[in-house]
Amino acid sequence: MYFLAPSILSADFTDLKNQIRLVEMGKADWIHCDVMDGRFVPNITFGPLIVEAVNRLTHLPLDVHLMIVKPDHYLEKFAEAGADYLSVHQEVCLYLDQTLKKIKELNVKAGVTLNPATPVNTLEHILGEIDLLLLMSVNPGFGGQKFIDHVLRKIEEVRKIKEKNNYNFLIEVDGGIGIDNIKNCLNAGAEVIVAGAAIFRGENPTARTLELKNVLNDYKMRKNNIK
Ligand code: DX5
Ligand code: ZN
Repeated sequence: MYFLAPSILSADFTDLKNQIRLVEMGKADWIHCDVMDGRFVPNITFGPLIVEAVNRLTHLPLDVHLMIVKPDHYLEKFAEAGADYLSVHQEVCLYLDQTLKKIKELNVKAGVTLNPATPVNTLEHILGEIDLLLLMSVNPGFGGQKFIDHVLRKIEEVRKIKEKNNYNFLIEVDGGIGIDNIKNCLNAGAEVIVAGAAIFRGENPTARTLELKNVLNDYKMRKNNIK
């Protein structure tokens, strides 16, 4: 399965309802919510209050990316707010297996995120437990940054590990993705694509969403034909 998850980080928050409608019209699959605390990353965005509001604005699954230092303290709040996926950063979870267990006990799909510089082998012990592996392709904190090319090799590495071990998690890539490089991410093994600036910073979010979805659908069709 392949999914497109527009990130509302670059949306116009005075008109969130309409902005979400625009990407729904473009056949977005999930809504990606970037939660930042000004400690793990040098930026502050929003918390469960806004996630709960977004949940009332859409039926699409909410993919909540927690860029916060003490995620364990807030898991319940985000679950109550309507998160379908909760992704925590490996870099702040000393007891990652316990954190993931807690997420699953809340009946939410559990994800782990790696910054561009964090190696995949830090996750060896939990790859069988997760629903989502989120690979950052920018250093987190801001929308509209440039894609870091060496992450493509990391996506390939994860795809190989996943295939070899028959793991079930989805491979998600986040940061600096647009129409020019989405195909590279898919070829490397990405299954969930996050896009913020490429969708919301232009004139026509619906058209941008549709364009990215077309690339996803073409890729999916080609892959099925090869099989
Ligand atoms: C970065 C966030 C990303 C970001 C993606 O810290 O996690 O979700 O908003 O946005 P673009 O596509 O603008 O790089
Ligand atoms: Zn994100």
